[in-house]
Amino acid sequence: MSEEIIDSRFLQTCDISLEEFTLQPCTMVIFGGAGDLSRKKLLPSVFHLFKERELTDGFSLLGFGRKELTDEQYRAMMEEEVKSFGEGLYDEGTWREFDKHVFSLSGTFEDDESYKRLRDKIEGITTPDGGGNKNVIYYLAVPPQVTPVLVKKLKYHNLCRGPFNTKIIVEKPFGSDLSSARELNRILTGAFREEQVYRIDHYLGKEPVQNIIFFRFSNMIFEQIWNRLFVDNVQITVAESIGIEGRGGFYEQTGVVRDIVQNHMLQILGFIAMEPPVGFRADFIRDEKVKILRSMRPMSPDYIDRFVVRGQYGRGKQNGAAVPAYGEEEGVGPASLVPTFFAGKFYIDNLRWAGVPFYLRTGKRMKKRVTEICIQLKRLPLQLFGRTCDSMEPNVLVLTIQPDEKISMRFMVKYPYVSNQIYSTKMVFSYREAFKTPEHPAYEQLLVDCMKGDLTPFVRQDEVELMWEIVDPIIRRWEEVTPENFPNYAAGTWGPPEAHLLLEQEDRCWITD
Ligand code: BG6
Repeated sequence: MSEEIIDSRFLQTCDISLEEFTLQPCTMVIFGGAGDLSRKKLLPSVFHLFKERELTDGFSLLGFGRKELTDEQYRAMMEEEVKSFGEGLYDEGTWREFDKHVFSLSGTFEDDESYKRLRDKIEGITTPDGGGNKNVIYYLAVPPQVTPVLVKKLKYHNLCRGPFNTKIIVEKPFGSDLSSARELNRILTGAFREEQVYRIDHYLGKEPVQNIIFFRFSNMIFEQIWNRLFVDNVQITVAESIGIEGRGGFYEQTGVVRDIVQNHMLQILGFIAMEPPVGFRADFIRDEKVKILRSMRPMSPDYIDRFVVRGQYGRGKQNGAAVPAYGEEEGVGPASLVPTFFAGKFYIDNLRWAGVPFYLRTGKRMKKRVTEICIQLKRLPLQLFGRTCDSMEPNVLVLTIQPDEKISMRFMVKYPYVSNQIYSTKMVFSYREAFKTPEHPAYEQLLVDCMKGDLTPFVRQDEVELMWEIVDPIIRRWEEVTPENFPNYAAGTWGPPEAHLLLEQEDRCWITD
């Protein structure tokens, strides 16, 4: 009997393809136009999009910052940055075409006059779209404490909902706890409508993260086993080999939970655990993530002491070279109690996941850079083949987000030419081999999505608040109870022994080691 495939009413028609989508003319105003993020990431990304002909002739970039810079000076400065940070992107011919689209405006975020000049400058450089509208994207590449002032000023000067068609891109951190996030959201949504707000979590621009729901919901084989009946546990690892890269001041205020767990990790968890969305629309997908975040079991102080592990790296070796301890990094003191490592066990109290542990682990200066999601299936209840000393490895599905974008499945086979022996092996799908794509630059993808008006890879207000609700008790508990053994892992290792015990005491182990 042939099964009928029913199309979702949200399915796109074949004549709309991403490649054919033409972006509208727009001006991107970068607040903090000469800052770190702009120099290292944004300018190279925009230049690459220009080089790839993704941007229209009507595109302009306006760098707003404290430094007194003419358009020419700003262009010359950014040219040098793209040469240094563009990873071979720069070529003089394209830059000469590109820099006509680049402008600068000096001003301070508190000063009313600056916003008047901003309006005039936008008026002057923005090409209207086919409907006569002037599209403007504000990109807040500024320290988080500046955001409230800036947004209030944009509102006061009537730059949010008119006379331009505006969107605003906000970088993480979105607050530093639930109450500050609520306050920030109140200010943002007092000035802009929620649909104008694009909260960036760059993990959502990574192709393999976007793939999670496509993979889950387009394959009968995986969709059927994705639940408590088949899954023993889920592990999410975001391991970084780098340290804090000269950002001591920032990291001392942030620590691992605010930096990675509250955003990147809980977002990945949302995609892994969510129910199928009603269709492919930003809010349908965000609704499902919200339901997961809402179902996460709150953690008591006692639970945190038992099932959440913190760490801070000491001296060690990375790629054969000696590296300093966290306490010896610039901007950090030896007495610092800021954690650089996190491991914890989470539960999602819904029907799909009841009783299935989700182990999350992340850290700086770990053995290697890898971001992976491992779905470990339950063991078969009976071992039919092999010898008593053979161990039946459980099936494991691994989604590797970086550095090698791939999906692999571990399973058992008969060992050849031995009559009764089982052997654990794996099948690998590699993005690079299949699609000949390099690791996809997340920022470029997100900038294009924002220009198109696609909110799917951006984070909604309620998601942000729920993510804080989940991690706030951990941050609070860790502030209450002083760690006594910091630093407790050597740089270049997989973290403190307690992180391994967390799983070992439950007869499990970290799969990515
Ligand atoms: C950022 C954190 O959000 O993500 C950094 O602030 C971290 O501390 C970075 O290094 C990791 O991003 P990626 O894409 O290299 O995994």
